[in-house]
Amino acid sequence: MTAKMFSVVFALALAALCSAAVDQQTFDNMVYSAHFSADAYPMPNCSYPEGTKRLQVYTTGAKGFLAVDGQRKWIILSFRGTYDDEDKRRNGMRNLVPYNITGSSSCQDCKVHEGYQEACGLNVDSIVKDIEAAWRSYPGYKVVVTGHSLGGAEVALCGTSIAHVLGPGNVTAYSLAGLAAGNEKFAAYQDAAFPNKSFYRITSLNDTVPQQLKPSQGYYHGGTEYWISKEPDPSPSDVVVCNGQADINCNAGAVKNGTSSPGVTSVRIERSFSQPSRRITLLTGDS
Ligand SMILES: *[C@@H]1O[C@H](CO)[C@@H](O)[C@H](O)[C@H]1NC(C)=O
Ligand SMILES: *[C@@H]1O[C@H](CO)[C@@H](O)[C@H](O)[C@H]1NC(C)=O
Ligand SMILES: *[C@@H]1O[C@H](CO)[C@@H](O)[C@H](O)[C@H]1NC(C)=O
Ligand SMILES: *[C@@H]1O[C@H](CO)[C@@H](O)[C@H](O)[C@H]1NC(C)=O
Ligand SMILES: *[C@@H]1O[C@H](CO)[C@@H](O)[C@H](O)[C@H]1NC(C)=O
Ligand SMILES: *[C@@H]1O[C@H](CO)[C@@H](O)[C@H](O)[C@H]1NC(C)=O
Repeated sequence: MTAKMFSVVFALALAALCSAAVDQQTFDNMVYSAHFSADAYPMPNCSYPEGTKRLQVYTTGAKGFLAVDGQRKWIILSFRGTYDDEDKRRNGMRNLVPYNITGSSSCQDCKVHEGYQEACGLNVDSIVKDIEAAWRSYPGYKVVVTGHSLGGAEVALCGTSIAHVLGPGNVTAYSLAGLAAGNEKFAAYQDAAFPNKSFYRITSLNDTVPQQLKPSQGYYHGGTEYWISKEPDPSPSDVVVCNGQADINCNAGAVKNGTSSPGVTSVRIERSFSQPSRRITLLTGDS
């Protein structure tokens, strides 16, 4: 093979890698976690995906529920997105403050969103205790944390805290349209808790919510971004595995460019990620 041919082949391989679509299993897990994220609204009388069993409902602190899914062998924690006035008050507490709750002790110079931390600090110990109990009852089950919007921000903040207590690599995270939860040091700590790309930061088209807390305000995302480049009804080949935390070919670029895929007017993650019967309204701009 000539050098020129080689470089062309190599460039093609690299292009394929950079825009790697996800496999069906990964896609199914993303869709499935979206159902659980949706099911955290409204609270406290939330519904649950078929075939799952509710273990706990959290109405104080980082709100949501813990369930067990015998089919997938998941112990799944779902954080609710913005719903009540308390959530809105905490959303407004945007100061970066020292990260000091359970699970934070080995994070040096870490700062996090004051409101998200206030919530998680109130129930993180209960959540850890409940997950550990569930783990004993369901040995070999995988611990999965999910949530949409504010819930996605808690996947980052509270999920990272929990993962550091349970042991890095023992928790898988799926955040949907989550906001950034802390500074660069915190984002690195988040990545350490979720090795091997096990923090799925799912974004959609030009949805602005994931870009609401920005580097210029001291906020950085952790995790690996999985950008849905087509709505509604995306397929695995429409999910782009992104590079870095503000990939211009993904959500950050779509928001910055002010555009999205041609012809798309709706950017409701749940519209395509939830079964119609479970559909909930999650408009762009809501957090
Ligand atoms: C939850 O459901 C119970 C039983 O149906 C009902 O009594 C209660 O008012 C509901 N709570 C809310 C907040 O909807
Ligand atoms: C943790 O930080 C918050 C926000 O700065 C503060 O209000 C709280 O008192 C701190 N808690 C501890 C245990 O230091
Ligand atoms: C958590 O992860 C550590 C390190 O990978 C592993 O040794 C440990 O067994 C895991 N804990 C459980 C309960 O699976
Ligand atoms: C990451 O994945 C590789 C390959 O599956 C595995 O060997 C390794 O132990 C994983 N690392 C962690 C920290 O879980
Ligand atoms: C945004 O525009 C830049 C510069 O033209 C381009 O490289 C990038 O792919 C665009 N991003 C998206 C998501 O369309
Ligand atoms: C997202 O893209 C759609 C389609 O191009 C457009 O109508 C909408 O205004 C865009 N939204 C934002 C926030 O840029």
